[in-house]
Amino acid sequence: MATVYVPRDSSAVSLGAERVAEAIRREAAQRGVELKLVRNGSRGLYWAEPMVEVSTVAGRVAYGPVQPQDVPGLFDAGFLEGKSHALSLGATEEILYLKNQERLTNARVGITDPVSLEDYLSHDGYRGLKNALAMQPADIVKEVTDSGLRGRGGAAFPTGIKWNTVLNAPSDQKYIVCNADEGDSGTFSDRMIMEGDPFVLIEGMTIAGLAVGATQGYIYLRVEYPNALTILNEAIAAAYRAGYLGQSLCGSGKSFDLEVRVGAGAYVCGEETALLESLEGKRGLVRFKPPLPAIVGLFGKPTIVNNVISLASVPIILDKGGTHYRDFGMGRSRGTLPIQLAGNIKRPGLIEKAFGVTLREILYDYGGGSASGRPIRAVQVGGPLGAFLPESQFDTPLDYEAFAALWAVLGHGGIVAFDDTVDMARMARYAMEFCAAESCGKCTPCRIGSTRGVEVMDRIIANREHDKNLLLLRDLCDTMLGGSLCALGGMTPYPVLSALNHFPEDFGAAKPEAA
Ligand SMILES: Cc1cc2nc3c(=O)[nH]c(=O)nc-3n(C[C@H](O)[C@H](O)[C@H](O)COP(=O)(O)O)c2cc1C
Ligand code: SF4
Repeated sequence: MATVYVPRDSSAVSLGAERVAEAIRREAAQRGVELKLVRNGSRGLYWAEPMVEVSTVAGRVAYGPVQPQDVPGLFDAGFLEGKSHALSLGATEEILYLKNQERLTNARVGITDPVSLEDYLSHDGYRGLKNALAMQPADIVKEVTDSGLRGRGGAAFPTGIKWNTVLNAPSDQKYIVCNADEGDSGTFSDRMIMEGDPFVLIEGMTIAGLAVGATQGYIYLRVEYPNALTILNEAIAAAYRAGYLGQSLCGSGKSFDLEVRVGAGAYVCGEETALLESLEGKRGLVRFKPPLPAIVGLFGKPTIVNNVISLASVPIILDKGGTHYRDFGMGRSRGTLPIQLAGNIKRPGLIEKAFGVTLREILYDYGGGSASGRPIRAVQVGGPLGAFLPESQFDTPLDYEAFAALWAVLGHGGIVAFDDTVDMARMARYAMEFCAAESCGKCTPCRIGSTRGVEVMDRIIANREHDKNLLLLRDLCDTMLGGSLCALGGMTPYPVLSALNHFPEDFGAAKPEAA
């Protein structure tokens, strides 16, 4: 019996995957053909979604993008045997977009049935936890430290150091909190993991619990991810049933409980202390630091707050060793980054690569250039608080330090491309507007500064007292940079000033070299 894969990933579903799955079921029934339909995660080739795969003796073969009306033709062409059709993409693993990636964290995404524990186990799942159960907590932390893993949520803080702080904080109760708020524009790697391989996150959080002595975990999930919520809850229930969560993990006598909590749609609740407030049932206001959440976190107890990708990278580190993970990457950026390519781009999707790949390779070798066919003029990397980079910086390697040297950030690895029709003054205005809409209101530079920033940008765009307002904009950005309590206000100047510095002509100013 043939096995057919149709993703249940939200992006594939938004492009019609549900209707394609139904059409395949119907067509098979009409033709009296028996087949097994698996709803997998997405391989991350969003330009080919809904991408249908078929298992053949020579491996999996892909077709896409498939629409319901293509289904009878696919049956006629013999797609169940992997035969050729106009939508053939060939052997899945040989598609260059996929073949040239280094998939560590996303190793199983798109391959397995996300809610099948058996599938997870048969694809090396829970090997990291088995190793961790036989180790001392400090040795687990050391393995993570040795891997060089840095937080993938944005700040790139070394995960091992954070874990060590929680390990050494004496307390009767500690917590593991997964930051699944994923609010950055153009990002979706957390969602892809949660929808495509939820067990890897559950395993990573369980290992984190063992490492620091925490017995309770929470996944703080953004409300805009209802499919991830369903899939996570299904996987958590399966893990409980099989003894991978609960009172005695795999009969070890060590316990770890886990549940999902849903946010309410505030970008600032991705900031770790606002997230903790929200998790405690309060309004999402940013807390003063210190104390760090690692010392005084959820309900006043020592707490690890880590991003989905950080935690989902832990099982492979505990399975294959910190050195294996560390061998990927460059400089102080070790391992791999799930890069999310979006915006005006021909082939958007998820590309997991070792650090060191250049922006240009991602944009052109993978992305195929702009969707509009016009030149790519700018990219914003690292979400709405990330800097814009002009074409002259496209040869920068994806590396935390290389980006910092350009006054830019890698953040959560989201890249949004814009062609030459973009108006960068409007983008700068939008950054201020976004900050004004999402500010938690606790500190003045952000709360008032962002609103004044929109007004100043409006005057610049309208060419009113132009030079005076440009000076005022720089002054305001300086205050926000230096005086904001958290990175929402503190980093809004990144998109604003990078737009102004790299594209002054859009602000009605002469380019510096031409002045
Ligand atoms: C305004 C704002 C929004 C943030 N949103 C997220 C988010 O959605 N997901 C995330 O993992 N980190 C987010 N962060 C970063 C977190 O505060 C924190 O650094 C992160 O969860 C730590 O995990 P990591 O060390 O694994 O990256 C945000 C920070 C700020 C200032
Ligand atoms: S910078 Fe903005 S979001 Fe952050 S604490 Fe201040 S007001 Fe709140």
